[in-house]
Amino acid sequence: MLTIFAFFLASLSPVLSVAAKGGVGRLPALGFNSWNAFHCDIDESKFLTAAQKIVDLGLKDAGYEYVNIDDCWSMKDQRDPKTHAMLPNMTKFPDGIDGLAKKIHDMGLKIGIYSSAGTKTCEQYPASINYEDVDAKSFSDWGIDYLKYDNCFVPDNMKDDCQFCMTPNTTCQDTAQDKYCPAGYDYSKSKTAQRYNAMRDALNKQTRPILYSLCEWGTAGVHFWGNTTAQSWRTTGDISPNFTAILTIANLNTFTLDSVDFGGHSDPDMLEIGNAPLTNVQERTHFALWAVMKSPLLIGTDLDKIKPSSVAILKNKNLLAFNQDDVYGKPAFPFKWGSAPDWTYVPNKPAEYWAGQYKEGIMILLFNNHDTAKDYTFAFREVPGVKLGQKYHVVDGWTDNDLGCFTATGSVVIPKIAASDTVVLILKDGASCLKKLKVRGARERNVIIPL
Ligand SMILES: *[C@@H]1O[C@H](CO)[C@@H](O)[C@H](O)[C@H]1NC(C)=O
Ligand SMILES: *[C@@H]1O[C@H](CO)[C@@H](O)[C@H](O)[C@H]1NC(C)=O
Ligand SMILES: *[C@@H]1O[C@H](CO)[C@@H](O)[C@H](O)[C@H]1NC(C)=O
Ligand SMILES: *[C@@H]1O[C@H](CO)[C@@H](O)[C@H](O)[C@H]1NC(C)=O
Repeated sequence: MLTIFAFFLASLSPVLSVAAKGGVGRLPALGFNSWNAFHCDIDESKFLTAAQKIVDLGLKDAGYEYVNIDDCWSMKDQRDPKTHAMLPNMTKFPDGIDGLAKKIHDMGLKIGIYSSAGTKTCEQYPASINYEDVDAKSFSDWGIDYLKYDNCFVPDNMKDDCQFCMTPNTTCQDTAQDKYCPAGYDYSKSKTAQRYNAMRDALNKQTRPILYSLCEWGTAGVHFWGNTTAQSWRTTGDISPNFTAILTIANLNTFTLDSVDFGGHSDPDMLEIGNAPLTNVQERTHFALWAVMKSPLLIGTDLDKIKPSSVAILKNKNLLAFNQDDVYGKPAFPFKWGSAPDWTYVPNKPAEYWAGQYKEGIMILLFNNHDTAKDYTFAFREVPGVKLGQKYHVVDGWTDNDLGCFTATGSVVIPKIAASDTVVLILKDGASCLKKLKVRGARERNVIIPL
C-alpha cells in the first residue's frame, strides 16, 4: 500500500526536460572509469581487464555497467583531415574505439568516453568545442553509451565574466584572476552553460542514447542548471585518495542536493575506494556518503588488484539499493550536522547525521568525524519520515544483521562508532517484526548496537 502510494506520487513529479533518449541516466550511473586508477596510461587491454573483473567480482550482478574511458584515448594534435573526426590512437586501441565497444557490449556492459568543452582536453588531446556535432556523431557511430565532458582549455571568448562562490557561508573575495558573480546571477545563461548545452544538443541529434555527464567542477553554479542539460554534473574540483579532501568534496556536494532527482544527479567525482592510503573505515564512509547523496558510483581503482574488503564495500546491497531506488528520486539529506553548525560549511566537517527514504524504509547514516570512537545519539522526532510511536524493524546496513524491533519514541544511542566510520541503519516497516523478536522499545531511550 505504502509502495503503491509512493509510486503514484513519484509519477506526478515534474518531468525533466532533459530526459535522455532511452531513459538512460534516470538513476545514478554505476560503473568504472580509468582516470583515478591509470591516468593517461591506458590501452584496450586495461579496459577489457576492468570489464572482465566487473563480471568476475560480481560487480555486474550488483548493477555496475559502465566501463568508461577517460582522457588520452585519441591521437594528439590531429583530427581526420577530411571529416574532422577525432582519431583513436590505434597503438593503444588496435581495434579502434568501435572494436572495443563491441567487445564490452558482448560482455553485457556499456562503454563511456571522454572529451572537453574546450579546444583541448586537460591532457591536451583534441577536444570538442566547435566540433560538437562531428564528435557526437563519432561517439554514436562507435557505440558509445556515456560521455564525460570536461572543462579544460576554454577559449577566451567562451569564458564567463564571473564565477559561483562554491563555499557556502563565505563571501568569496575577487582577485585579479577570479571574479565572483553577484547574488541573483542567472548561471543558466552563462557561457559555461552554453558550452555544455551545445554538446547536449549535438548528442540529442544522434540515434544512440548517450548518458551525458558534465565535468564542470561547480564554478559556474552548475547545480542550478545541470538538470536541464545533462543526467549528472560534477559539483567540485577533482577527488584524490585523501580522506580530508574527500570530506571537503562531500561537504560541498551536500549544498547542491536540492537539484537531485530522477534523471539528474550531482556528482562529487569518482570513487577512490581501493586506492592507498584510504583505510577500510574511510572507504566505508566515502562509499556510504556517495551512495546516499545519489552520486554516480564510478569505481576508480585497478580492479585487477583490488582487495576483497574494498569489493565488499562496492557491492553493499543496501547502499546500492538506496542509490538505485526507482520509487524515491531524492537523495538523503543531513537531519543535523554534528561537528559544524547545521547547514554551515566548515571544509572537512560535513554533516554526520543523514536520513533518506527509499522503498525499503528509511536509511540513516551516522558518521563519526572524530579521531576516537564516540557514541552517537539522535531523537526519532529529528528524523524526517519517522512516524513517532510506530514500530520499526531495524537492520544494520553493512552486515544486514537484524537489530530488532523498536518503537519510535525518545532517542537512540549508537555506542562507540569507530573514528572515521559510518553506521548505516535501515528502519523498515514494523509489520515485518516477527513476534519472536524482542520488542525493545523503551519509553525514553533506546540503544542500538549495530556492530
Ligand atoms: C599513440 O600511443 C602510443 C602508445 O602510448 C604513443 O607512443 C604515441 O605517441 C601516441 N600517438 C599519438 C599521436 O598520440
Ligand atoms: C589532503 O587534503 C588536505 C585538504 O585538502 C590537504 O590539506 C592535505 O595536505 C592533503 N594531504 C596530502 C597527503 O596530500
Ligand atoms: C532541477 O534543479 C533545480 C535547481 O536546483 C531545482 O529547483 C529543481 O527542483 C530540479 N528539478 C528536478 C526535477 O529535480
Ligand atoms: C550558512 O548558510 C546557510 C544557507 O546556505 C544557512 O542556512 C546557515 O544558517 C548559514 N550558517 C551561518 C552560521 O550563517
